[in-house]
Amino acid sequence: MKDKILITYSTRTGSTKGVSEFIGKTLTDLGESVDVLPMNEIEDLSHYSAVIAGSAVQSGKWLPEASDFINTHKNDLNKRPVAVFLVCMTLVMPKGENYRETVSQWLDPIRSLVSPIDVGLFKGALDIKKIPSFSDRFKFRLSVLLRVWKEGDHRDWDSIHNWTVKIKSHLDKSNSSLN
Ligand SMILES: Cc1cc2nc3c(=O)[nH]c(=O)nc-3n(C[C@H](O)[C@H](O)[C@H](O)COP(=O)(O)O)c2cc1C
Repeated sequence: MKDKILITYSTRTGSTKGVSEFIGKTLTDLGESVDVLPMNEIEDLSHYSAVIAGSAVQSGKWLPEASDFINTHKNDLNKRPVAVFLVCMTLVMPKGENYRETVSQWLDPIRSLVSPIDVGLFKGALDIKKIPSFSDRFKFRLSVLLRVWKEGDHRDWDSIHNWTVKIKSHLDKSNSSLN
């Protein structure tokens, strides 16, 4: 069975897991067979025809274990179509759309290891009580008071849906060019 698509993610407070499950559900509704799994559970990519990998952003980067996952599996990833995405709060800022280019550059270290067929930049969620570190909770409370962004779930399901449909059409095209 090599027709499955793997959607794999790295998360701290759960919003990237939710995005991954939604991508999985969308692809399933479009007739694909998928696994949605955290990156730390993946050892072998041989069962998968394509991989969609995503991470939460912290300090302008993918989470360290997500970058490690790409580095560890880069040879296998480069043998199949790969799409990557990130989930962050910068795009939630009042003029967040102006920062898309900067946000996209956060994936440059990943682009240096694999050549994604597409890159998804998604708005995330801020639930301050779920942030483990006291000083990070303090910083985020301050940022909300200063109206940098609002607490809450800002994930844009329409935009994630549209991106997933685009990925499906890329995959269909690359399959038909192989046949
Ligand atoms: C400690 C910490 C640092 C963060 N740093 C950034 C950042 O540099 N840029 C950004 O846009 N969002 C940043 N965020 C926001 C997260 O990317 C956002 O809340 C995301 O939805 C979290 O995903 P998760 O729920 O899957 O962990 C940060 C969040 C935390 C808790």
